[in-house]
Amino acid sequence: MTTIEVHASKSYQIRIGYDLLPTLGHHISTLQGVEKVCLISESNVWPLYGDTAEQSLIDTGFETCHYVFPAGEPQKCGETFLAILNFLAENQLTRTDAIVALGGGVVGDLAGFCASCFLRGIRFVQVPTTLLAAVDSSVGGKTAIDLPSGKNLAGAFYQPSLVLCDLGCLDTLPEAVFLDGCAEIVKTAILFDPEMFRSLMKSGPSFDRESVIARCVAHKRDIVTADEFDRGQRQKLNLGHTIGHGVEAMSHFTISHGKAVSIGIAIAARAAAKLGLCAQETCDECLTLLSQFRLPIETEYCASDLCAMALSDKKRSGETINLIIPHAIGDCTIVPTPISQMESFIQAGL
Ligand code: GLY
Repeated sequence: MTTIEVHASKSYQIRIGYDLLPTLGHHISTLQGVEKVCLISESNVWPLYGDTAEQSLIDTGFETCHYVFPAGEPQKCGETFLAILNFLAENQLTRTDAIVALGGGVVGDLAGFCASCFLRGIRFVQVPTTLLAAVDSSVGGKTAIDLPSGKNLAGAFYQPSLVLCDLGCLDTLPEAVFLDGCAEIVKTAILFDPEMFRSLMKSGPSFDRESVIARCVAHKRDIVTADEFDRGQRQKLNLGHTIGHGVEAMSHFTISHGKAVSIGIAIAARAAAKLGLCAQETCDECLTLLSQFRLPIETEYCASDLCAMALSDKKRSGETINLIIPHAIGDCTIVPTPISQMESFIQAGL
């Protein structure tokens, strides 16, 4: 097992390894004063891991309850949020108790936001079961629900008390879901880690899970420690995301997040090369690595549609939007870009 320490507004550990779910109770018992644990999960994940997780908690002496909602992004909404808060109240969880978020990004974001609000904040433990959640959304304390006007429009920065990444959960992921998470790994390598980039180029998707996930998490830890509230360097994690959001939105979210991010990274890299902001070789390397992971690098959508959708994203700030530009592998910068130049930037990258 690899343990990574995070020291943000809250200090906590991220534990990465096998057989963490069957020993969930032991891990939760390292948090002081928890008596009751509410597991929050969704309908695809719960049948796979719910019993193992809950039995481990019961065997360790915790009182438990669980709330399982139908799988899918539409459930990351105000109605489910309120239903969970009511469930926590009915089950009389107190401020010294804890929530366990068992699932991917939807579960983690929603359960984390509930934890931030219930009794003005109770502890929560992230147990990511997708690669994307393991390397990105479970770490760093971004919690949210979607509103009818857009994704993640209501939320809080609220750090978990513990993150447990059981690598065994990744074994049951459909290939497409696994590759989706790989987009965040490739993003991390481009942003911060030329050595990991080279190693991923050789391994493709059969990389060593524990070491690569741990390395991505350590990079994210460093960024979150430096800029927990997303006012500066943390925005680098949006590499490929703003344009990717345009791709997702244009497809009415039928193109997955990871694929959309991959297309967003490809557009940013091609535009950077064309505008003389990075070497053509750097752009080619980014495209090659994305392709190694069977991730898309082209889109049928035009620059003006992508631009309109990308600008509806909350990452916009006044008349500029921060684009993350790759200059070289491991060297990316935040470039405030006038809204008026966004479409031509995208056009350059198509
Ligand atoms: N997923 C991007 C962030 O945590 O800031």
